[in-house]
Amino acid sequence: MESLRDKVFLITGGSSGLGRAAAEVLLERGAKVAIAARRAAPLEAVARELGGEVLALPMDVTVKASVAAGMERIVDRFGRLDGIATFAGLTFAYRIEDLPEERLRHIVDVNLIGTVLCCQAAIPHLRKSGGHIVTISSASARHREEFPHMAIYGAVKAAVEKFTLELRDEVKRDGISVTCMSPGSFVTEITGNFDPDHTEQAYEVWIRDHGPDSDGMQEPRYFGEALAHCLSYPRGLAVDFMEVRPNVPTPKR
Ligand SMILES: NC(=O)c1ccc[n+]([C@@H]2O[C@H](COP(=O)([O-])OP(=O)(O)OC[C@H]3O[C@@H](n4cnc5c(N)ncnc54)[C@H](OP(=O)(O)O)[C@@H]3O)[C@@H](O)[C@H]2O)c1
Repeated sequence: MESLRDKVFLITGGSSGLGRAAAEVLLERGAKVAIAARRAAPLEAVARELGGEVLALPMDVTVKASVAAGMERIVDRFGRLDGIATFAGLTFAYRIEDLPEERLRHIVDVNLIGTVLCCQAAIPHLRKSGGHIVTISSASARHREEFPHMAIYGAVKAAVEKFTLELRDEVKRDGISVTCMSPGSFVTEITGNFDPDHTEQAYEVWIRDHGPDSDGMQEPRYFGEALAHCLSYPRGLAVDFMEVRPNVPTPKR
């Protein structure tokens, strides 16, 4: 396996949850890391907490010009780019008929369009370094027992997986490795914007249809370790798909 020391990575969604944990692990391995998110203040606070060779990069992954400007800042600061991991993402829990149009579009925009825009902007830089793209799916894309009422999120993450397969074929001759990683449930801020009433409805359905226990939740750090593992394979060898899910039976209430 290759060392990550002095390699340069962009972690979108790096101010929180899985992205933040991933950045922490990569920094510990000696990498230089740009963490990107929309809100500058929490991003800068996290960068200070992480320390090391970290760049706080205010960026909206749904805005092409913002992504392009962020990419240029990384190369200005660190001189190269060796990999990206597209953690920026969000979901809401609503029955399909209740999902507000604005939230429907937001789920598609951040999780799918944002992933594509980041990959597009990174490819020219990764072609030079023989770098690595890691996209982020979700266990909700294929496991029926995951938290319900996230149909559009699951569908969009399935689209991210298909996009990633196509991307792998397109860029392999450029020496770029491509991996899709799929988290199960990890303790993060992702449920922070959930509507309490609609979430309660989802809980009732979850318990009714899939029993009183879930597979539990795990610490984001473990997912960061898994990402570092994927990024450590030598050029010419890549994990296509890795799903990391907790498996500790845990009461849902
Ligand atoms: N946690 C889980 O159990 C779980 C399970 C399966 C999959 N996932 C996936 O893992 C990824 C990370 O989720 P998480 O749980 O770590 O969520 P989180 O704690 O809510 O973090 C989300 C991050 O994305 C950023 N973000 C949101 N919209 C953005 C935008 N338009 N442009 C740039 N950054 C944006 C947020 O910062 P700002 O709000 O400041 O932009 C934040 O840094 C997501 O793709 C999620 O779908 C998570």
